[in-house]
Amino acid sequence: MKGIILAGGTGTRLYPMTSILNKHLLPIYDKPMIYYPMSVLMLAGIKDILIISTPEDTPNFQQMLGDGERYGIHLSYEVQPSPDGLAQAFIVGEKFIGDEPVAMILGDNLFYGSGLSERLKRAVDNAKRGKATVFGSLVKDPERFGVIEFDEKWSVVSIEEKPKKARSNFAATGLYFYDNRVVSFAKKVKPSWRNELEITDVNNMYLANGDLEAIPFSRGFTWMDMGTPESMAEASEFIRSVERQHGLKIACLEEIAYRNGWIGREALEPYAKKWENNDYGRYLLRILDSKVR
Ligand code: G1P
Repeated sequence: MKGIILAGGTGTRLYPMTSILNKHLLPIYDKPMIYYPMSVLMLAGIKDILIISTPEDTPNFQQMLGDGERYGIHLSYEVQPSPDGLAQAFIVGEKFIGDEPVAMILGDNLFYGSGLSERLKRAVDNAKRGKATVFGSLVKDPERFGVIEFDEKWSVVSIEEKPKKARSNFAATGLYFYDNRVVSFAKKVKPSWRNELEITDVNNMYLANGDLEAIPFSRGFTWMDMGTPESMAEASEFIRSVERQHGLKIACLEEIAYRNGWIGREALEPYAKKWENNDYGRYLLRILDSKVR
C-alpha cells in the first residue's frame, strides 16, 4: 500500500505568510503542518509515501524530511508543475504507485479523535479488496465541500462537489483510499467548471461500479482544513489544548514510528537527546522511558 500527500498550491489565502514558505511548512502549534497528514498515513501502516509539491517548494520538503529514514519509512518527491486538481495526484504519482493500492491525503488536513485507527484499518482492507473509501465529517457549511449522502444503512447514495443545495451535512474529508484502478480512473476525468480534475469525479466512478464506501466520523471527532489564517489559529489552539491536557503529543512522527516498530531505541535516543532542551525532545525521552502510553 502506497501513500501520497498533496502539498502543492499557491497559498494565496495565506499570503503574506506564504510569500516564501509553502503553506504545509508553516507551524501548527509545535510542528509543521505536514506532520499532521503524514501521521495519518503512518497510523494507517503506510511506509512508502510520496510528497507532491510545487517545483519551488519541493526542495524545502526534501531538506526537512529527507528520505524518511528517521521515521523508518521511505519518502519520495514529485513535482506538480501546476495545481490542476486533486485527481492529478494519481497521474503525477503513476510511476510511484506502480501496481499497488494507494491512499491520498491533503497536506492541510487535520484528523483527531477516537476510532481513527480502526477506520483507517478498514479503509486499507477495502483498498486491498478492490474498493474505494472516503470519510464523512459533519460540518455546518457542506456546500463548500464534496457532500456525501447516505442511506439508512450508511451506504453512499450520492457524492457531489460543492452543490448549491447540499443533500446532507457530511463533507468528504481530504483522505481517500483506492485500489490500483484509481490511476486509470483519474486519467478519464475532465476538467470541471473551476477547471480542476475533481476527486469527486473519481469517487463517482467507484460509486457507479458499486465500489465506494464512505465511513462517517462520529460526533466529537475533529476534522479541519488548515487553509486560512483563522483555521490555522484554531487548529494550533486545538492541538495546544489537547496536548497540554493529556501530556500527549498529536502527530509526533518519531513516536508513531517507534510504536509501530519501524525504528528502535538506538535510532530514537540520539534524536531525543539532540532536542533535550525543548519540549519535543523531552517528550521523546519520556516515550523511551515508557512514561507515556
Ligand atoms: C477538495 C475536494 C472536496 C473535499 C475537500 C476537503 O475541495 O474537492 O471534495 O470535500 O477538498 O477539504 P477544495 O479544497 O479543492 O475546494
